[in-house]
Amino acid sequence: MSKLKIEGKNVLSGTIEISGAKNSAVALLPASLLCKTKSKIFKVPKIRDIEYLIKILEVLNCKCKIENNAVEIDTTHLKNAPIPEELSEQMRASYYFMGTLLARFKKVEISFPGGCHIGARPIDLHIKGFESLGAKVEIIKNKYIITADKLIGGRIYLDIASVGATINIMLAAVSAEGKTIIENAAREPEIVNVASYLISMGAKITGAGTSTIIIEQSLDLDNGVTEVFPDRIEASTYIVLGALMGENLKIKGFIKEHINAVLTKLNDVGQDFELNGDEITITRAKKYLPTNIKTQVYPGFPTDMQQVFTVLLTRASGESTVTETIYESRFKSAELLNQMGANTAACENVLTIKGPTELTGKSLWVPDLRGGAALLVAGLISEGTTILDNIPLLLRGYEDVVEKLKAVGAKIEIIE
Ligand code: EPZ
Repeated sequence: MSKLKIEGKNVLSGTIEISGAKNSAVALLPASLLCKTKSKIFKVPKIRDIEYLIKILEVLNCKCKIENNAVEIDTTHLKNAPIPEELSEQMRASYYFMGTLLARFKKVEISFPGGCHIGARPIDLHIKGFESLGAKVEIIKNKYIITADKLIGGRIYLDIASVGATINIMLAAVSAEGKTIIENAAREPEIVNVASYLISMGAKITGAGTSTIIIEQSLDLDNGVTEVFPDRIEASTYIVLGALMGENLKIKGFIKEHINAVLTKLNDVGQDFELNGDEITITRAKKYLPTNIKTQVYPGFPTDMQQVFTVLLTRASGESTVTETIYESRFKSAELLNQMGANTAACENVLTIKGPTELTGKSLWVPDLRGGAALLVAGLISEGTTILDNIPLLLRGYEDVVEKLKAVGAKIEIIE
């Protein structure tokens, strides 16, 4: 299996362009099923999850045309086939086919979704939402079988502001009779991206990006077109890398409002940067201050960034903490950072980082996507060579990561 070889300590300068967001794109592709004929999505990142979603679309008899980063999906001959385990288990987002197939056919057969092992990650809120719309959900072996005579809108309160449940219920609700109101909806940019795609098809949705989303029944949706929002986690990852190794490193093509929480924490650690529209220029600081981070739903500090930010905190002079409030098991990469020389200790959902520590290259196994990104950043600041194994988990979230980093001076390559 291929591995990633990283030679650390090379200063990075030049420009990194941000790709379309994985977590938006993986919802937008399944959302295309709501169109009667053709739809088009621009700026789709070329990553593994997208390849598998296209395979699922093909199982459902859709035709997908890919041109650079644009994907055209033709659902004219859509058929309701069961989604097999070998495809659905490849990623979490396969669950978005529940909402769209339920809307189109009132029947869904799908094997359990996969995704990174970062906690229990139940989907009870998705199921409760479908049930509120009038669907019956059964689990038979490793499959969800969801059926409905008809879907009827109503008021759905989410116990947790879940990104996946908000999007999935919104997808199903467009075909529900009357009006559906989702309360305590998640407010992440991914939800706005999906809602605006549905609106481009003719859906009647208001409130996406707030805690109350109202969806009115909209039939005959067609001709959807949208662009995937810039990946706020990819942008934040490279910005943190710039804080550690940048020399006038420019990161370009993000939406500033989407990364405010991360920029605020950079201010807290004493890192300067220059913001100019959709571009940031960053040169590594001489010294970093410790800080405390608590992951929160958007617009709070994103859980998807805490592992990468922890690498920066290993360099801060003093004691920092990271409190993880979303997932129970997202500190595996911190244990691996300790093998590289970091001084971190996890107690329940709080990670304490004592710094500054110097890191040394090691051979390590990527535990999960963002943990892999953290180890990549750690490798780039370490003395010596780091070899990362199990890299498909990392590559599934960062389009052209090796090429982008090489172009700004990183010594990094995939080896067999
Ligand atoms: C999305 O996951 C992202 N994944 C995650 O990205 C991200 O960490 C997460 O949102 C939070 O921002 C995709 O978009 C594919 P949630 P999702 O439903 O939708 C609990 C990455 O590295 N919950 O908002 O699955 C759940 O266990 C990843 O890119 C329930 O209890 O996240 C978690 O504790 C990983 N019941 C919390 O809510 C449910 O029915 C938030 O989960 C649903 C969720």
